[in-house]
Amino acid sequence: MCGIVGVVSSTPCKDFLIRGLKKLEYRGYDSSGMAIADLEGNVSIAKAIGAPVNLDKSLRENIDSTLATGTVGLAHTRWATHGVVSEANTHPHSCGRVTLVHNGIIENHADIKAQLSVSMKYNYQSQTDSEVLAVLLEHLMSNGETMQSAIQSMSEMVKGAYGIVAIDANKTDEIWVARSGSPMVIGLGEDANYVASDALALNAFTENFVYLDEGQIACIKQHSYQIYSSVGEPQSAQETHIPYKADCDSHVGYDSFMAKEIDEQPDVIERLIRSHVDKSGIKADSDLFLIKGKLRNVKQLHIVACGTSYNAGLVAKHFFEDYAGIPTSVEVASEYRYRAVAVPENTAFICVSQSGETADTLAALRKAKESKYLTTLTLCNVETSAMVREADLHLTLQAGTEIGVASTKAFTTQLSAFLMLAATVCEDEEKQISLIDSLLRLPDDCRSALLLSNEIKVNAAPIFEKTNSCLFLGRGEQSAIAAEGALKLKELSYIHAEAYAAGELKHGPLALIDNEIPVVVNAPGDCLHEKLVSNIEEVNARGGQFVIFSSKEAVVDLDEMVNIVMPPLPLTTACITYAIPLQLLAFHVTKLRGENVDKPRNLAKSISVE
Ligand code: F6R
Repeated sequence: MCGIVGVVSSTPCKDFLIRGLKKLEYRGYDSSGMAIADLEGNVSIAKAIGAPVNLDKSLRENIDSTLATGTVGLAHTRWATHGVVSEANTHPHSCGRVTLVHNGIIENHADIKAQLSVSMKYNYQSQTDSEVLAVLLEHLMSNGETMQSAIQSMSEMVKGAYGIVAIDANKTDEIWVARSGSPMVIGLGEDANYVASDALALNAFTENFVYLDEGQIACIKQHSYQIYSSVGEPQSAQETHIPYKADCDSHVGYDSFMAKEIDEQPDVIERLIRSHVDKSGIKADSDLFLIKGKLRNVKQLHIVACGTSYNAGLVAKHFFEDYAGIPTSVEVASEYRYRAVAVPENTAFICVSQSGETADTLAALRKAKESKYLTTLTLCNVETSAMVREADLHLTLQAGTEIGVASTKAFTTQLSAFLMLAATVCEDEEKQISLIDSLLRLPDDCRSALLLSNEIKVNAAPIFEKTNSCLFLGRGEQSAIAAEGALKLKELSYIHAEAYAAGELKHGPLALIDNEIPVVVNAPGDCLHEKLVSNIEEVNARGGQFVIFSSKEAVVDLDEMVNIVMPPLPLTTACITYAIPLQLLAFHVTKLRGENVDKPRNLAKSISVE
């Protein structure tokens, strides 16, 4: 959560910081700020409410000489946790010699404040938990500690998570970085060194990175860097090469990242599937083959994730139980991490995440690693993420960078990866062949589903233009797709949307039905179709404006409805292809209501706080 970027350079760094912030704004866009230092020890701060473009604009109108010419800097884009959205609460925060930016949450900030107040009178400027870190470092340094030893002492005192970057006004040719629970990466340039909370912010400037491990502290200078353990021992670093990816820079040819990412789905699914399977089955040189070996004795699966990734887990339960007969439980990570979990023998743990940095899911993985699981596996889109580094096994989703806050291509690649995994552990050869056949044609089926975009825009989206509330229904695995459809619509358009397994309606939600409420149903014509039709009739008798996505054979006969007929496709992959029209519905409704499809209010892309 929140984004950090910093640099030690020989040339003015303001424009670099603005570019970095713009790349990171998917992590939060409530407000942004930067601090720039010159070699004379001047440190200047600028802040603006809203996305980094506002900071850019305000610096174009009004800038002092340190901000304009300083070569060492740090910057932050905020997703508010402690304190309202305001300039005072915007990072950087400073106290005396220390100026810093912080990602994460300091849980005991009130205790630290109270301890500090005994020896130091300080007039706090913000409501944030972060400012106390600047005050604490200043306090320790004014008692003779160096920045390094002050950060070490700080790390022993604070509870919670942090990634920080700090400047000492008495030594402005370097910046200090520390990580505990929030990712930080150093970027190695030719004439500058960088730091960021995500390599994406730096990828246009360098392809060489060093990821900080938990508890590490680093000092970054223009031509060198040194990493230390939390107790101050110098540590060697492993450099990682990440090739520049132009595709994440812009949405050229589309009006938004969401439109681009929805459209990319057939291609990224194709890349994922073809790297693991071909007509003759699982490729012997693929990661999936390795995973197959490790899951040979698996008897149960525990899937843990958050949000959209959790919905992917709900679908996967059907895959594993229907096709492989493996009992599977699915749980949200924020619950799993804090309860006593019974782990039967030969159970494998799977965490699913687009970012690989979601705090609750990462904590769940760490808990699982301490438990008696057969193995831990992550399905993740970011190869360099903490989850990929920490799980025993990983299957990367290869979806390319996802910038739109609402997950689209990551979700359908998660489903594709889960289905490949189910095919891998399925012992029935006939079923396995049929799964692989449907996977190989899936990219084309998704291409056909995307062709429905205009029909959804013209016929279905207007029904939602003025509504405040709607329902999504499905049965079987489609009830999990309904949950994802509702999540997409509510997070983007701000319409209250709920999803139900259609058979549950009569146990309460049917009371919501009147003539105004839109009801979205996925009806692929599977073995539960007759049951679903009865549920639809129950709603129809009480009102409801239906939008039904169905196969040609399963068209439901109602007087008043918008029926969108899906292309012919196999039922084994129907939950993946039927997710696409629901994404398109959320996209077009959001556009129609004039909201931002890429950056919904109150949200951020990577939730690295609890
Ligand atoms: C919604 C969405 C979120 C994420 C959730 C978990 O569109 O994207 O619900 O799925 O925050 O994030 P990851 O998958 O990065 O762990």
